[in-house]
Amino acid sequence: MDADEVLTTTRAVRRRLDPTRPVPLDVIRECVEVALQAPAGSNLPRTRFVVVRDPALRAGLADLYTAVYEGTYRGSEGYIGRVATEDAGAARTQERTTRSADALATALHEVDTILIACLEGARLDGASAMASASLLGGVLPATWSFMLAARARGLGTCWTTMHLAREREAAELLGIPYDRVQQVCLTPVAYTVGERFGRARRPAVDDVLHVDGWDESLPSAPDVRGLAAR
Ligand SMILES: Cc1cc2nc3c(=O)[nH]c(=O)nc-3n(C[C@H](O)[C@H](O)[C@H](O)COP(=O)(O)O)c2cc1C
Repeated sequence: MDADEVLTTTRAVRRRLDPTRPVPLDVIRECVEVALQAPAGSNLPRTRFVVVRDPALRAGLADLYTAVYEGTYRGSEGYIGRVATEDAGAARTQERTTRSADALATALHEVDTILIACLEGARLDGASAMASASLLGGVLPATWSFMLAARARGLGTCWTTMHLAREREAAELLGIPYDRVQQVCLTPVAYTVGERFGRARRPAVDDVLHVDGWDESLPSAPDVRGLAAR
């Protein structure tokens, strides 16, 4: 796969995670090695990956995830990831994503490996926009690189943040020092059922590309200021 193919076919895999094929820890290590090449503020990688293979720990994490999912997402309009839209295509995509998300809430209990990406060194609760962008922005590229490297090796991942509503309990389960390590993303890591994935439906380039300043005539994304303030 060339770079563009990896970049355009790394999907959120939920229904095609194969629970029957164990993922060797060495393959995870290779993906982490690739991920560490991502940029970080001050060139100081603060990304830490906690890989969870122990069945009891995985079950504990999956329970937390599913409890949050059942409590705040399924059937709910209030979850930050679901926003009202008048665009019929976007509404269909959200509907499909919801059905797929339902499947992950069930399948997470079965996958062989769960990975949590963390920011080490600070928590960002109440941090300024600049601090958040700088510190969180140091973890996100590495985490996505991990997922791209996984895809190139036949593995599927799915970026999730749902369990963060119960982050403290996940920290206790895994011995993560909550006061200085912030969990950022939880993903299953599993071989995929089949390796062919396509491009997703996304906005047109001309709808998102502002040239020489902000262009108010482009379509707006849904306003989530209320949700962001929660
Ligand atoms: C920051 C972030 C948080 C997400 N949280 C969740 C989540 O908690 N559960 C879930 O099933 N998917 C989650 N997703 C996945 C999205 O719902 C969506 O499926 C994905 O970004 C796009 O998938 P696609 O590339 O296959 O279209 C999250 C994605 C991102 C980037």
